[in-house]
Amino acid sequence: MSTTIAKKIQMVDLKGQYQKIKTEVDAAIQNVIDNTAFINGPAVKEFQADLERYLGVKNVIPCANGTDALQIAMMALGLKPGDEVITASHTYVATAEVIGLLGLTPILVEVHPDTFCINVDAIAKAITPKTKAIVPVHLYGQCADMESILALAKKHNLFVIEDVAQAIGAEYTFSDGKKHKAGTMGTVGCTSFFPSKNLGCYGDGGAIYTNDDELAKKLRMTAHHGQSVQYVHDVLGVNSRLDTIQAAVLKIKLKHLDEYSAARNKAAAYYDKAFANHPKIKTPVRAKNTTHVFHQYTLQLVGVDRNKIREQLAARDIPSMIYYPIPVHKQKAYQSDRHTSANFPITEHLATCVLSLPMHTELDEEILNYISTSLLELVNA
Ligand SMILES: Cc1ncc(COP(=O)(O)O)c(C=O)c1O
Repeated sequence: MSTTIAKKIQMVDLKGQYQKIKTEVDAAIQNVIDNTAFINGPAVKEFQADLERYLGVKNVIPCANGTDALQIAMMALGLKPGDEVITASHTYVATAEVIGLLGLTPILVEVHPDTFCINVDAIAKAITPKTKAIVPVHLYGQCADMESILALAKKHNLFVIEDVAQAIGAEYTFSDGKKHKAGTMGTVGCTSFFPSKNLGCYGDGGAIYTNDDELAKKLRMTAHHGQSVQYVHDVLGVNSRLDTIQAAVLKIKLKHLDEYSAARNKAAAYYDKAFANHPKIKTPVRAKNTTHVFHQYTLQLVGVDRNKIREQLAARDIPSMIYYPIPVHKQKAYQSDRHTSANFPITEHLATCVLSLPMHTELDEEILNYISTSLLELVNA
């Protein structure tokens, strides 16, 4: 080993980030406690309005977590058992889970080898008369090919439910030059404020976005027990609220989101440079038309034993993760004769070679140098 480091390296350094905003966050949390405004306190509406402004979207509906956001969106859109919903197999299971949970049929498809996001040709091939929605996942922090997805959805009259859990703040540019934030382009966008997300709270949280005011009403109602007026329940709903304490934290952190994205991009640029043109390390490709907010910095290792490298990194106190080791179509709960391996060569390959390195807002050059030097040594050995 050529170098050592005194600092503990983490995949995500939430404590370091907190320390910089501690005074403000502590006061905001204390204020909620002092006012005992735990449920639907003023911070929830304030954060909602701030996020609407930040995203340039007409409606933000806060909810309890990102999984609920997806579920509420599918319920409010009136999707019914038997309807088919297309999403990527290379994603976190929550995306597919809610589809199955509502009795809809998850149709999993292939991703693009460079961007790791859903492959538009694969979506087109999977569309049947039963298809009702497409759920593009803006994986690892950059947008899927939204212009093509929206065109396909329009042609087949499908809803587009953007899973923006990993890409809050990313911006997509359409060919006419118009820019839109991730999650505001489709019928509805669904995000997560899980602590390690780019905009993470100090517990669970989520939100749904839409520019459609009528749909926003249904989303609000669905998230609130299907209630239109107090004790009047017109539709089946759920109980899914963003806690006031979480909203108070998010309101503060939202002010720093662009700065957080810049810090992540700086770390990504460092890694990119360190691994540039290495025959065994494929750095993440930045797709045209979208900024990248690097929720994850995910490499592909070529011709090396990835699991051994992970163990060797761990021995040097460098954590790493595999997102995701088993594709959703290979999980027992998602078996279907439409989910045969032949349809997923890229997804199955990615499961064997992807490696995510520490990525967060507090990475300094000393840590980045230690991580990249170590990985290069191990891969070159
Ligand atoms: C792509 C994706 N979708 C949905 C979710 C679910 O979010 P939550 O954990 O807040 O329910 C996550 C969270 O990990 C995610 O990464």
